[in-house]
Amino acid sequence: EMLHSVVSFRGVPMAKMNVENWEPVEYFQARHDDVVLATYPKAGTTWVSEILDMIYNGGDLEKCQRDTIYNRVPYMEIRIPGMPSGVDQLELLASPRLIKTHLPIQLMPESFWEKKCKVIYVARNAKDVAVSYFFFHQMVKALPDPGPWDKFLADYMNGTVSYGSWYDHVKGWWEKRKQYGILYLFYEDLKEDPKREIKKILHYLEKELSDEVLEKIVHHTSFQVMSKNDMANYKTIPNDILNQTNTAFMRKGEAGDWKNHFTVAQNEAFDNQYQEQMLGTSLHFRTAI
Ligand code: A3P
Repeated sequence: EMLHSVVSFRGVPMAKMNVENWEPVEYFQARHDDVVLATYPKAGTTWVSEILDMIYNGGDLEKCQRDTIYNRVPYMEIRIPGMPSGVDQLELLASPRLIKTHLPIQLMPESFWEKKCKVIYVARNAKDVAVSYFFFHQMVKALPDPGPWDKFLADYMNGTVSYGSWYDHVKGWWEKRKQYGILYLFYEDLKEDPKREIKKILHYLEKELSDEVLEKIVHHTSFQVMSKNDMANYKTIPNDILNQTNTAFMRKGEAGDWKNHFTVAQNEAFDNQYQEQMLGTSLHFRTAI
């Protein structure tokens, strides 16, 4: 049961396993050419990490078919039983490293800011994240059983799920984007025009690719293609850690799927909370495209 528990860590609900030995994360040694991809869970992390991996491999598909967990884009703070920790994996990687994290900005290791690393944040609208996170909780053995949808939605709205409140996360990263030179992207924009958004990423990374390679990346990272890619689906993770019997990791990949899950009453309650929580911020989301 210990495996399933979420504990409050510096005020943020976090999977116990990930925070029990925090020192390696706290004192993580960033390198100046590290590229960090930060997200609240289910915001499109895997999608953008695939884009980044392809950019850094110049569109070479073969190089992008290495094992997801061990070689590609490790999650810094995540520990999976029987596997090296995210930090241990990262320390073995050659530069330039691509690093994923779900940490709220206040828990980020200082080293990334000291080294002035490039950091890309991807945000996705709160309602689709709630639905996607609900299905994800049914797959991941290290997360608590979500129970029925209405119970999970209440936990999500209360900010008691792993990585805490969606509001705190997206706002926290938004507020620091200028200070730290963070590229802040939206899942819905990527859905609308992936090529435009990938160009934004290239510009931010000061990289240039031919139009041919760009098109290749757009194609390879489309939902249609990625959902058939075992690496992108984390098929190398054993079933007892990530169970994809009932739902695939690449579940639906749409903007606005929340409409198939929220009741009218749930939606009203959510909209009320949303207005309260987002009052006064310049951060705006689209709930569908
Ligand atoms: P759904 O559950 O709504 O389908 P993360 O990688 O942060 O865990 O996010 C997973 C979500 O991103 C899932 O959402 C998944 O289907 C979606 N996703 C992954 N790859 C995608 C792609 N190429 N295009 C659109 N959505 C994608």
